[in-house]
Amino acid sequence: MDTVLITGTTSGIGKAFAGKFASMGNNIILVSRNRDKLQEQQIDLQSRYQVSVEYISCDLAEGDAVDMIMEKIRSWSLSVDVLVNNAGFNEAGCFINTNLSKELDMIQVHIKALTALTKSFLPGMIKRGYGRILNIGSTGSYMPCPYDAVYAATKAYVLSFSNGLYQELKGTGVTVTCLCPGATKTLFAEKANINNTLLFKFFVMQPEAVAAIGYSNLQKGKRVVTAGLYNKLLVLSAKLLPVSIINSIAQWMIKI
Ligand SMILES: NC(=O)c1ccc[n+]([C@@H]2O[C@H](COP(=O)([O-])OP(=O)(O)OC[C@H]3O[C@@H](n4cnc5c(N)ncnc54)[C@H](OP(=O)(O)O)[C@@H]3O)[C@@H](O)[C@H]2O)c1
Repeated sequence: MDTVLITGTTSGIGKAFAGKFASMGNNIILVSRNRDKLQEQQIDLQSRYQVSVEYISCDLAEGDAVDMIMEKIRSWSLSVDVLVNNAGFNEAGCFINTNLSKELDMIQVHIKALTALTKSFLPGMIKRGYGRILNIGSTGSYMPCPYDAVYAATKAYVLSFSNGLYQELKGTGVTVTCLCPGATKTLFAEKANINNTLLFKFFVMQPEAVAAIGYSNLQKGKRVVTAGLYNKLLVLSAKLLPVSIINSIAQWMIKI
């Protein structure tokens, strides 16, 4: 039985991950902002799966969020075996019109908090000779994306960071896996006002299916996983085609 810390659990893919890990008998630490939803989720998971569930309500866009999380974990005398860096959101549109404050928060959540959480939990994992880290990228990790330039750039960081770290950690008993979902039916698209784009009209996966793929590949210690056949083809074309063509395809799919 592992202790699993998951960020962004109150909806979508993170919620599906919390259910999956709990159903497999693991103890869970939920991290998100919405305290009421976290409380409900704690009661629900505990009663359904008889596992221990703690929660930390915090905003990962705040600079001191990771210190606060580590303080809580220390006060509970828990060690974290599995870290799932899932929390995230999008701010899409023409860059000159998008909200800079949201974009800087996105950089904080997708890049800085993910990096700091990984840095904070890794030493303990290495010392114990066991640990798993799952970072949620995106098919956007593979393609610079017009009308979603900052989001795609943050997800490119997640993929590159995870890949580099995977190699470094060989032989330590700790693995890093980057899961790259494509369009998934969560609150993500609605919040970013991109649910009417071509991207979210076709080949949209369910969060439970994405989490199941992430879970099984994390257990196998895989380096990078793209969720779903259609997304695998998209990623393959991003690797093979020139950036000008990929840019046009991405623009066509995401333009509001
Ligand atoms: N859905 C897609 O099509 C898609 C595709 C590719 C990649 N992804 C990635 O998948 C991950 C999960 O997204 P989702 O689709 O499940 O979206 P979602 O349904 O909107 O869920 C996002 C979760 O992140 C939490 N969160 C957001 N900002 C936060 C913050 N500042 N501090 C703490 N928690 C925060 C939210 O909880 P609170 O509001 O309670 O804080 C929520 O639980 C993200 O990294 C996203 O980039 C999604």
